[in-house]
Amino acid sequence: ARITLRQLLDHAAEYGYGVPAFNINNMEQGLAVMEAAAACDAPVILQASRGARSYAKDLMLARMIDALADIYPSIPICMHQDHGNDEATCLTAVRHGFTSVMMDGSLEADAATPASYEYNVEITKRVTTIAHWVGVSVEGELGVLGSLESGEAEAEDGHGASGVLSHDQLLTDPDQAVDFVLRTKVDALAIACGTSHGAYKFTRAPDGDILAMGVIEEIHRKLPNTHLVMHGSSSVPQPLQDIINRFGGEMPQTYGVPVEEIERGIRHGVRKVNIDTDCRMAMSGQFRRIATENPAEFDPRKFLKPAMDAMRDLCRDRFERFGTAGNA
Ligand code: G3H
Ligand code: 13P
Ligand code: ZN
Repeated sequence: ARITLRQLLDHAAEYGYGVPAFNINNMEQGLAVMEAAAACDAPVILQASRGARSYAKDLMLARMIDALADIYPSIPICMHQDHGNDEATCLTAVRHGFTSVMMDGSLEADAATPASYEYNVEITKRVTTIAHWVGVSVEGELGVLGSLESGEAEAEDGHGASGVLSHDQLLTDPDQAVDFVLRTKVDALAIACGTSHGAYKFTRAPDGDILAMGVIEEIHRKLPNTHLVMHGSSSVPQPLQDIINRFGGEMPQTYGVPVEEIERGIRHGVRKVNIDTDCRMAMSGQFRRIATENPAEFDPRKFLKPAMDAMRDLCRDRFERFGTAGNA
């Protein structure tokens, strides 16, 4: 059955668990998440980026979600727009059956200036008003994702750097967060705490200087009833880096967000945990392995099935560690 983000995260807050939000672009990724959820009785958040929507086509995604809901009738599904950039993106998602949208007003250039704060409040408020009319939830974002190591803020597409910001600008200001939630009435708030999108988050195992989990605790103290969202929450597990590199990959050594740090966030109000990179790595590691071990293979299913299984195992691990399992 379809549920909204608000319904799901209210339940998660009441019972003290977190929900991974997995990005999907195709049937294999959708099935991987649902198989994992069915195996451990977890509710799911499936999310599609703008890129995913243009890759798969809106209608394909919409009908696929219908099919997944019919195949797994006991699993609650929240279908969410990841990083909506304007009203049109959010409302066309609603039109295609999404039960939740992210209006990311922090994507605007110079997101750390007062003018862009007002822009973020206004556009998020507009989307929240309209979405709530039709029973759809809204996630807003306050703060600029980027590296506390280099000071580089993410470029608008989530890849590479758009410029160098101060330490403070890369972390969500707790008092501003209170004002933002009050004015926009968002159902969930994405915050910046030193994580960034993609595989290259940290050049060393993160400590409190570069992964500021304390900021989350402070925001949660000021907004105890607001559902917090962590973006850039892939853990970039060493075994997945190793598989990719063992079979011809050339990924430089990198570090993600340790699962224990996410568990700590979940104890302090984090309810939605965005994961894309880990799923991509789990799948593409298997593509490389099959291509290397069986160079004569050319049936796509022989690549996609192990890839799907690897993503399923990763998703199941996160459902279990975040406490989502058993809550469908
Ligand atoms: O926000 C970043 C997500 O990983 C989605 O990435 O825009 O390449 O689909 P994408
Ligand atoms: P990762 O790149 O860490 O998986 O983050 C995904 C994300 O935040 C999608 O919005
Ligand atoms: Zn994100």
